Amino acid sequence: MLEGEQGRAVRKSMEILTTLGTIYGAERLIPISSVQIAGVSYDNLGEAGLAFLQEMADGGGKARVLTTLNPAGMDVENWQALGISPEFAEKQARVLEAFGRMDVVVTCTCTPYLSGNLPHFGEHIAWAESSAVCFANSVIGARTNREGGPSALASALTGLTPAYGYHLDENRRPSLSVQVEARIEGTAQFGALGKVIGEELQADQLKPVSFITGVERASLEELKSFSASLATYGGAALFHMQGITPEAGLHSTPGQTLRIAQADLEEAGQALNDAAPEEVDFISLGCPHLSLQEIAHLAQLLEGQHVEREFWITTARPTKQIADRMGYTRVIEASGARFSVDTCCVVAPIKGRFKALATDSAKACYYAYAKNGFKTAFMPFDDVVRLALRPQSG
Ligand code: F3S
Repeated sequence: MLEGEQGRAVRKSMEILTTLGTIYGAERLIPISSVQIAGVSYDNLGEAGLAFLQEMADGGGKARVLTTLNPAGMDVENWQALGISPEFAEKQARVLEAFGRMDVVVTCTCTPYLSGNLPHFGEHIAWAESSAVCFANSVIGARTNREGGPSALASALTGLTPAYGYHLDENRRPSLSVQVEARIEGTAQFGALGKVIGEELQADQLKPVSFITGVERASLEELKSFSASLATYGGAALFHMQGITPEAGLHSTPGQTLRIAQADLEEAGQALNDAAPEEVDFISLGCPHLSLQEIAHLAQLLEGQHVEREFWITTARPTKQIADRMGYTRVIEASGARFSVDTCCVVAPIKGRFKALATDSAKACYYAYAKNGFKTAFMPFDDVVRLALRPQSG
């Protein structure tokens, strides 16, 4: 592969992987079974990124394992209605076309595990989206490092990844014990918990594998919210949660303990609330992308209602298609809320369009401010919906 016998794209891919492996001291390359590529929005890629993808496609690159994409910068089928410019849409379409030529499945979602890209326990994979990496490592027990866009593509085109980091047993052991002494419920609270723990990991420069005790139950939706937040605020790619995640039982509790009380969660939530409710001009649910159960719940809340502010629901295309069939889409769209599929409120090019975002996602709050300069209002899922029903001045 490195000598170019299998084409230019494979040679380039192998150069990327061997360089990474050398930097991180990997002794070998290992086969992987699944890839998820981030850096799909033209807003992030720009011309240089697009040119790289086209070069790889022209060089004969073909995905050798199941490979899916992170959200793009627009709803591929409905971009006009969401205010995306034709120039941007044209560039984004070329990005997706290049991926398609490489046999990458152009399902654009940060929750690939809900849309057919679901590895099993112990499987080696190469995923890039930070929330999905944290979910796959922790909740599923698959093994992946947090890949960049080029290294994930390189793994797709070769079916290999260097064996270092979270692929190895020794790096999956917890080093910090976290005792949760609060009742945690709902996606927002799990997001706040991820922020509290994540910021400790950053502050202490600890190897960020935490062993969390005291959480009695956690739904899939709560775990995806927590994974996204822990990855955002702590750069973490793996955690263990006693009684909930599969590898927790393999480890003993590390000595060093962090205790988290209700007040810590409240403080974390307040830190994400600098927008007054009447200032909010943009509402979004679906960071990470909504599951079908969340969409069903949303349809219940919006039945017969009318939303008063710009309200985006972000999810994966396959999930939306089931929502269509179940009748949820009709109820939700009748309220005036809009589906924004294949994309999200962070990767879409909406800087300058809004001033303040309301959401249940701690991760979305971070990027709404960091990327777009929006103020944020952070609250539970149902409260976000209630706010959408109130006029902006009310
Ligand atoms: Fe997904 Fe976008 Fe949030 S990629 S995790 S919805 S920032």
